[in-house]
Amino acid sequence: MNHPKEFAEGLSIGIIMDGNGRWAKQRGLPRTAGHKKGAAVFQDIANYCEELGVSSVTFYAFSTENWKRPLEEVSAIMKLFGEYLLKGFNYKDRNIRIKFLGDRAALDAKLQKLMNELEEDSAAKTGMTLNIAVNYGGPEIVRAARQLAQQVAEGTLKPEDITEEMMSDHMYTAGQKDPDFILRPSGEKRLSNFMLWQAAYAELVEMDVLWPDFTRDDLDAAITEFNKRSRRFGGI
Ligand code: IPE
Ligand code: IPE
Ligand code: MG
Repeated sequence: MNHPKEFAEGLSIGIIMDGNGRWAKQRGLPRTAGHKKGAAVFQDIANYCEELGVSSVTFYAFSTENWKRPLEEVSAIMKLFGEYLLKGFNYKDRNIRIKFLGDRAALDAKLQKLMNELEEDSAAKTGMTLNIAVNYGGPEIVRAARQLAQQVAEGTLKPEDITEEMMSDHMYTAGQKDPDFILRPSGEKRLSNFMLWQAAYAELVEMDVLWPDFTRDDLDAAITEFNKRSRRFGGI
């Protein structure tokens, strides 16, 4: 589809990839089949965001709460994640910067190494920022509070000097623009601990499509919906 340049250029988008399990269930398949299809959609939509000139896109891949799932499902998700990081992105030839949001210390050591490499190798790229949130959730804000508390304890920071900007700088997204809109497919209307701090003024767009069925046209529809919103940021 042809869009005017201003359609999506410079936007920052958050995407909660939800509905993989329901998609599989509808087809009488194991939940892992839904995650597999969902991973392929993730790759295509990430590419499409880049084509549209989006400045940053954050995909919610695994929450701090998702460890509650059966071990078999968690292992399948982690395996898929590793495969996509290894083969999915031809990142060396591309102008995208990759960042991982979340506590990676809980992940497999090989996976962590790969994540660190991807981040380091792509750090100087100037194109779209691709954030992937893994083992990510509300603890991001606790972590920021602890880091600032540590500085207070060391005597290098006064509590009254703590600002909103400092909090932002201690999020995994430090230095990035907050999301303009957060998209949640699958019909759920909640954030489930996704970008709680950064979402303060994000527009929320929910869609009735399950993530494995999500298409480029659906992203177009979400952006069109966002472009119709009137954002006031507390003003008039
Ligand atoms: C999203 O799909 C993927 C992850 C949370 C890892 P779900 O697995 O939550 O799918 P539903 O919500 O059960 O359909
Ligand atoms: C949110 O989806 C997490 C991800 C998409 C990674 P969930 O399916 O885990 O959220 P809830 O449990 O329905 O709130
Ligand atoms: Mg879900």
